[in-house]
Amino acid sequence: MSETLQELLRELERFGQQNDAAISEPPRRMLNITRDTGEFLSVLVQATNAQRVLEIGTSNGYSTLWLAQAVQRIGGHVTTVELSEYKLAMAAKNFERSGLSDVITQHPGEAGGLFERLKDASFDLIFLDSKRSDYVQWWPNIERVLRKGGLLVVDNATSHAGELAAFMVQVSADPNFTTCTVPVGNGEFLATRCG
Ligand SMILES: C[S@@+](CC[C@H](N)C(=O)[O-])C[C@H]1O[C@@H](n2cnc3c(N)ncnc32)[C@H](O)[C@@H]1O
Repeated sequence: MSETLQELLRELERFGQQNDAAISEPPRRMLNITRDTGEFLSVLVQATNAQRVLEIGTSNGYSTLWLAQAVQRIGGHVTTVELSEYKLAMAAKNFERSGLSDVITQHPGEAGGLFERLKDASFDLIFLDSKRSDYVQWWPNIERVLRKGGLLVVDNATSHAGELAAFMVQVSADPNFTTCTVPVGNGEFLATRCG
């Protein structure tokens, strides 16, 4: 990774921590993944050759940048969706600064609507990091757009285990998926589509 990108990621980490410590309203908080989660995502993308990545919940683009620098190395692309206009604009600036804009497509709006529009899409890796109560109803769409052999990664599996319990039970009960929870960052729930 270039020095410039490392510096940008460090800057965003400081900004996210200071911003979120000072602000209590969720719409203005960045709620970024931890650095070790970023490193983990980077390894997962490259080890599984996940060229088509979908991220739900861009915020200001911190996690997107981890995904983007990984897909750039393997000739891939990240599609990311965010409903907050405030955060979309921040993310666009950060992508421009990173030099990774050409491997990122930003979708403004609601992820549920994007799933409907992505009728024939197929992704190798989906990173889910938005409003956890939506996940159960999104499951049929997530399952549809994740290719066989693809990987779903869900943040906050241990930090918000109660809020994710129903979803994790739903996915784990699906005979087409093999799942586990990894103690990285806020806990990552992994599900790979085997059928
Ligand atoms: C935890 S933050 C994402 C943090 C980001 N992944 C990172 O680590 O830098 C969750 C984001 O999901 C967005 N969000 C929540 N519900 C959404 C939905 N239905 N569609 C699109 N974005 C949504 C929120 O506005 C918020 O910015």
